[in-house]
Amino acid sequence: MKTRKILSILIIAVLFMGCSSDSSSDGGIIVGGPTNGGDDGDGTGGGTTPEYLQDFTNFPMGNIVSAFKLSSTSSANVDFREVLLNDYNSITAENDMKMANIFTSAGNYDFSDGDAIVAYAKANGLRVHGHALVWHSSVPGWLNSFSGTNEEFEALIEAYVKATVSHFAIEKDANGNSIVASWDVVNEYFDGGSIRSSIFQQKIGDDFIDKAFQWAREADTDVKLFYNDYNIAGEPNKRNLIINKVNSMISNSVPIDGIGMQMHLNHNWPTSDLPLAIQQITDTSLLVHISELDVKANYGNDVTELTATRAQEQADQYQNASYHYTNIVPTAQQYGITIWGVRDQDSWLYDGGGDWPLLYNNDYSTKIAYDSFIDGLKGNP
Ligand code: GLA
Repeated sequence: MKTRKILSILIIAVLFMGCSSDSSSDGGIIVGGPTNGGDDGDGTGGGTTPEYLQDFTNFPMGNIVSAFKLSSTSSANVDFREVLLNDYNSITAENDMKMANIFTSAGNYDFSDGDAIVAYAKANGLRVHGHALVWHSSVPGWLNSFSGTNEEFEALIEAYVKATVSHFAIEKDANGNSIVASWDVVNEYFDGGSIRSSIFQQKIGDDFIDKAFQWAREADTDVKLFYNDYNIAGEPNKRNLIINKVNSMISNSVPIDGIGMQMHLNHNWPTSDLPLAIQQITDTSLLVHISELDVKANYGNDVTELTATRAQEQADQYQNASYHYTNIVPTAQQYGITIWGVRDQDSWLYDGGGDWPLLYNNDYSTKIAYDSFIDGLKGNP
């Protein structure tokens, strides 16, 4: 990938050193080669600059990491890091900063994997989005079988949230801003049309969400606090519940800064509800993060390979997401787009090779969805 950038720079240099050149309509140089819009075959739209995903946006472009992948010397992980640093400037820990990985026993926290991720981010100028403080699917075993009182349970969760947020507020960049700029405070509070029955809801009550945001804010006055959920686009009833809850949090001065729309999409779902959802979430006036974007190409398990038709439908859906986000969300509310994985085979949806949900093939070459995603970022519907 870096080679591509170096080659582009060399081409420009050669042109400037006396080769015949011409002016394109926008005053740039025509470098020759393919005539399909200047594409150089590398999937990035070709030409000179911008070259990588992060170059096409003014908002952060994110992907997911693990401490292991950031330190592994396998060629696959070396290649992974090259793609990561070229295309992205924001990272989310896929699992390493979840409660089940950190909260080892009452009052004891293992921050080592998160610390390694933060150190990597600091060294490479990346933003870290913290994910996720309170989520029903990441409760450590010992806590799941907790036999103390509800008050004791709540005190443990309060201590966990405060200790974790405080810990990750320590590392700063050269400007004094925290490397961990934000947290998904509560993930998936709603289940379809109602509040999810979870250990937090049962032992603390429906207002565990408000308490969690308040605890996080007490631990760090600056960090951005997000509510994160899936099918915000695609399930209008669930979306309405979320919007009502968030609006009541705002009017009750519960500290919330943003909403994470996970965006686990299918190649043909949702359609018109996607822009509507982005608009309605934007209307809350909070920050908007597409926080876990991927697009299943084989949801119905009806193909055995990524057919050209299905690849195009998937590409169109990636373009829908990037276009509507870019087009609808005002700059001041754009917290960024985070894609949930790099290579297909590393996706939680890979299904042993039965689906291909991401932007890169298993050899890290880009799929047509990558080009379409860029088209959307460029404002092409
Ligand atoms: C949810 C979580 C993510 C990830 C996915 C897939 O969307 O928020 O962290 O775990 O499920 O498992």
